[in-house]
Amino acid sequence: MELFEAIRRRYSYRGAFEDKEVPREDLKKIVEAGLKAPSGVNGQTTTFIIVDDLVLVREIGMMHLKNRALREARALIACVIDRKPEAIYEGYSFQIEDCAAAVENMLLAITALGYGSVWIDGWLRLEGRAEKIGGLLGVPAEKIVRVILPVGVPVEEGPRKDKKPFGERAWFNSWSRAIK
Ligand SMILES: Cc1cc2nc3c(=O)[nH]c(=O)nc-3n(C[C@H](O)[C@H](O)[C@H](O)COP(=O)(O)O)c2cc1C
Repeated sequence: MELFEAIRRRYSYRGAFEDKEVPREDLKKIVEAGLKAPSGVNGQTTTFIIVDDLVLVREIGMMHLKNRALREARALIACVIDRKPEAIYEGYSFQIEDCAAAVENMLLAITALGYGSVWIDGWLRLEGRAEKIGGLLGVPAEKIVRVILPVGVPVEEGPRKDKKPFGERAWFNSWSRAIK
């Protein structure tokens, strides 16, 4: 799929998945796209756990009953960063940004390969979920699961969010709603 088509087609899918496995070859392609993402000072700080053991996938999915995509996913990709990211450049850490860049690359790869997914991050921050999932996946204590991407073949087209038009969020040369 052409890049701009993948960008246009990507959206957060939280619906049902078909009962079809996601081949490891595709999962590796998706994570390769994450590995290729830019990172602050080329720190390459995010690590990835590809979960395709259905028992584990279901155990994690059952923690989020409201999100059907997570419940019915055939695989998950867990993105792991340091619990207390160290400064890498002039007192700044870029681990969250590194992780986000990798996630977006992977979401585009997921879309291009015909799968659906949703960026699960906020949900992980509550009620010790990131720690619990980290425990299931053998993540060391000094690391934390920052994002999870469920992966599967969508059964249907889910609802799409409207995006604000260009002129409301982007301008040439000056921050202003008035300049065209
Ligand atoms: C940093 C971040 C955290 C997110 N956390 C969650 C989450 O925990 N659960 C969820 O269902 N969606 C989550 N999302 C997905 C957003 O809700 C979604 O991207 C947004 O509503 C726009 O919809 P779209 O992805 O279809 O364009 C997250 C997205 C981002 C970028």
